[in-house]
Amino acid sequence: MLTLKNKTAALIAKAVEDKFGAALLSGEEIFAMLEYPPDKSMGDLALPCFRLSKTLRRSPVQIADMLSQSIECAEFSAVSAINGYLNFKIDGTAFARRVVSDVFEKGDRYGSPECGEGKTVVLDYSSPNVAKPFHIGHLGTTVIGHSLKLLHEFAGYKCVGINYLGDWGTQFGKLIAAYKKWGDKATVEPGGVDELVKLYVRVNNEIGREEAASLEGKPEGTPKHSALADEARAEFAKLEHGDEENLALWRWFVDVSLEEYQRTYKLLGIEFDSYKGESFYTDKMPAQVEKLRNMGLLEIDDGASIVNLDKWNMPVCLILKSDGTTLYPTRDIAAAVYRKGEYNFDKAIYVTSAAQSLHFAQWFKVVELMGYDWYDKLVHVPYGTVSINGAKLATRTGNVILLKDLFAEAISRVRDIAREKNPDEEECQRIAESVGVGAIVFYYLSNNRMRDINFMMEDALSFDGNTGPYAQYTYARTCSVLDKVLSECGEMSCATLGEEEVELAKTIAAFPERVNAALSDYEPSVVTRYVLDLCAAFNRFYHNCSIANCENADLKQSRIALTRATKQTLGTALHLICMQSPEKI
Ligand code: ARG
Repeated sequence: MLTLKNKTAALIAKAVEDKFGAALLSGEEIFAMLEYPPDKSMGDLALPCFRLSKTLRRSPVQIADMLSQSIECAEFSAVSAINGYLNFKIDGTAFARRVVSDVFEKGDRYGSPECGEGKTVVLDYSSPNVAKPFHIGHLGTTVIGHSLKLLHEFAGYKCVGINYLGDWGTQFGKLIAAYKKWGDKATVEPGGVDELVKLYVRVNNEIGREEAASLEGKPEGTPKHSALADEARAEFAKLEHGDEENLALWRWFVDVSLEEYQRTYKLLGIEFDSYKGESFYTDKMPAQVEKLRNMGLLEIDDGASIVNLDKWNMPVCLILKSDGTTLYPTRDIAAAVYRKGEYNFDKAIYVTSAAQSLHFAQWFKVVELMGYDWYDKLVHVPYGTVSINGAKLATRTGNVILLKDLFAEAISRVRDIAREKNPDEEECQRIAESVGVGAIVFYYLSNNRMRDINFMMEDALSFDGNTGPYAQYTYARTCSVLDKVLSECGEMSCATLGEEEVELAKTIAAFPERVNAALSDYEPSVVTRYVLDLCAAFNRFYHNCSIANCENADLKQSRIALTRATKQTLGTALHLICMQSPEKI
């Protein structure tokens, strides 16, 4: 559709020039004014001419009339002027032929805006905090982030996916103290992150208890105290000063965690190009702090070093705590500088929950104040919260669902269904993994990213309705149709096409435009909704038009060709939202 819209805009621009003399309007200007009429009987494309009245000094009705007479194009069956609108009706058969040949020619590049050639995008996503649960709240950053990576790759950008692990900070002091007190290799080794989380929860509870006890019977205002908290601080200080034993424990905790995350990433088909976490930037922060200080940007506030952001209506950005330790923004600034040097990015994308929007706005501003001219290449992509069956996530009350459990549950449910039909255990497992995981990803990416989501497993796994399984099933259907007609060429013929076929071609033609929109809004859900539109159009076509048994030989070839083009486009679209497309379900 994009190509036709472009072509139409150019034709109109030419007609304006012919009828009104000078080139008063550019093709781009007209392109932006073209609309898809909601009522298809009016036409497939329309130009509302009242917008041109001022420039062309005529009434919209006159303008539409004049232009309609001088536009001719084989792909339009009619160009008409109705109430100040210039309406274009597509010649369905000619249009479908062009769309399908475009898909065949471009193959798996069909739909790419090809705008990223020679440019690099760095994407920071997923980035869980080690030893804290990797839960459903991280689903957003993980799948939105990865989908944005795939979209950029598709557009031709060189992409670097970075997992900025939360692998440094005072929580490691607590964890080391807890491990030394209650932990041992024999439990953590097989238990993995779950055991680390247990230790972490236990040490926090214990600190809370000690602090509460320290206040008992004391006058109000007494500072609370916990010996265990002191111990944890001491362990972290030792870690920071390079104590061998603590460093070894820390490394081990990170490895154990990473191993588990990787199992989840593998299910999702995600690989990162870099796992440089927060710890990597420890020795890169002082230079940035120094620069801030030299530029006079640092102020001392209650002992802490801050950058005042009053002028931009934001709270201060904390750079150093009063004890001289660094903070989250400090590390992000150092990491951005490092990444600019390492990758020379044209864009750096950060995907996190909207709860961190202020953090990003603050340190982006600080980077700008520091005089880095690439400050405007930093993009924060926020997303809304997730609740489960109506209840908010809360680590404390235990209302968390770990990502690995979520996927395991989905896979096991699909496996049960698959077993009923398929005796091959290995194949069942494969199908269960791609359909189960796909269902969750699809469900999540169906919503605009800023929308808060209430996660319902039943809805996600349903085969009816607008779900992942339905989309994958439709893809498998295109494959099985093509399997039956294997030996036939399936090229578009000159047979006149009916409504379902033309609608399908129009939907296929809409793909490049949707990819563009998804990219420019950082919104994978645009692709998810497109997948549903394409599935609906294909299924309507499939139910109304016989393909393998079609008696008109020419028409049969066109229908096969349309099925091939659907398979190609649907496969690409599913890939862009991190979904697998099994040929058989
Ligand atoms: N580890 C952080 C968290 O779990 C997310 C990190 C996001 N990326 C960044 N560069 N700050 O909240």
